[in-house]
Amino acid sequence: MEQPVKILVTGSNGQLGSELRQYAGLPGMIFDFTERATLQLTNEADVREYMEQVRPQYVINGAAYTAVDKAEETGAQEEAEAVNARAVGYLAKACTAVGAKLVHISTDYVFDGTASQSYKPSDHPNPVSVYGATKLKGEELAERYTDAVILRTAWVYSSFGKNFVKTMIRLMAEKPVINVVADQYGSPTYAADLAAAIISIIQSGKWVRGIYHYTNEGETSWYEFAGAIRELIHSTCMINPIPTADYPTPARRPAYSVLDKTGIKETYGIIIPAWRESLEKCISKLQP
Ligand SMILES: NC(=O)c1ccc[n+]([C@@H]2O[C@H](COP(=O)([O-])OP(=O)(O)OC[C@H]3O[C@@H](n4cnc5c(N)ncnc54)[C@H](OP(=O)(O)O)[C@@H]3O)[C@@H](O)[C@H]2O)c1
Repeated sequence: MEQPVKILVTGSNGQLGSELRQYAGLPGMIFDFTERATLQLTNEADVREYMEQVRPQYVINGAAYTAVDKAEETGAQEEAEAVNARAVGYLAKACTAVGAKLVHISTDYVFDGTASQSYKPSDHPNPVSVYGATKLKGEELAERYTDAVILRTAWVYSSFGKNFVKTMIRLMAEKPVINVVADQYGSPTYAADLAAAIISIIQSGKWVRGIYHYTNEGETSWYEFAGAIRELIHSTCMINPIPTADYPTPARRPAYSVLDKTGIKETYGIIIPAWRESLEKCISKLQP
């Protein structure tokens, strides 16, 4: 009998991490779900020691500093850099040391959003926020120190954690009218689909290092996305489309960040659900 594959997951209490937890008990895989309390990623010696003890075959790095606006504050920049950049280097080095393969998660925010057609993994990154810049450094360190598979994703939501979908459901229950930005375009990603794609990559037994893009299929604006949520929860709340200029935030966001997913489909044969279908699945979990 073949030995089960040992997989270490970081950020196990986050949106993606929680979706990955649903795979615990899957035949052929043994998971070690870590969180800040069990594995502090910003300590290089801890990371190295932990990896030497567990000796996983795969590491899925779902941990990140994801407070995009807070990361713009002077005090928070250092933490964002420590988690999103330096810690990725520590993990990547430890992966190489123990012979583990690293699946690292990155973001559409590495792009500036000035494109008019979907971004390919090879397109020039140019982050316009601290979060985006730290995530780009993380990608570079992952690639420098190990044979990583880097998955850039976008607009992530789940029934776990905090996200746009859950915020909209709450606001639509509280208010008769809400304003939603209508001039930022991208593709939502149901974290459960991203988790399934990662599991498929591992199960494929193939390993082609590089940067890949993964979001749900199709593109939309935050306004249109909110409209789909409204429809699915049968809310009567009015949604007012507003320009980004009327909703100033500390961090700049790309106006257009649709990602080209050809690479992951062709290399790993991943079938990607359309964003509306996945939204429906998530909402039926939240409101059975
Ligand atoms: N959310 C999005 O819209 C989005 C979009 C594009 C890309 N991504 C990327 O997708 C990945 C998963 O995102 P997500 O939405 O699942 O994130 P999330 O829900 O914010 O979870 C991130 C997790 O990382 C953990 N973490 C932070 N600092 C840590 C440290 N020093 N040591 C150990 N753990 C630490 C957090 O723990 P605590 O709870 O203890 O802080 C949290 O559980 C990330 O790489 C993110 O950058 C997300």
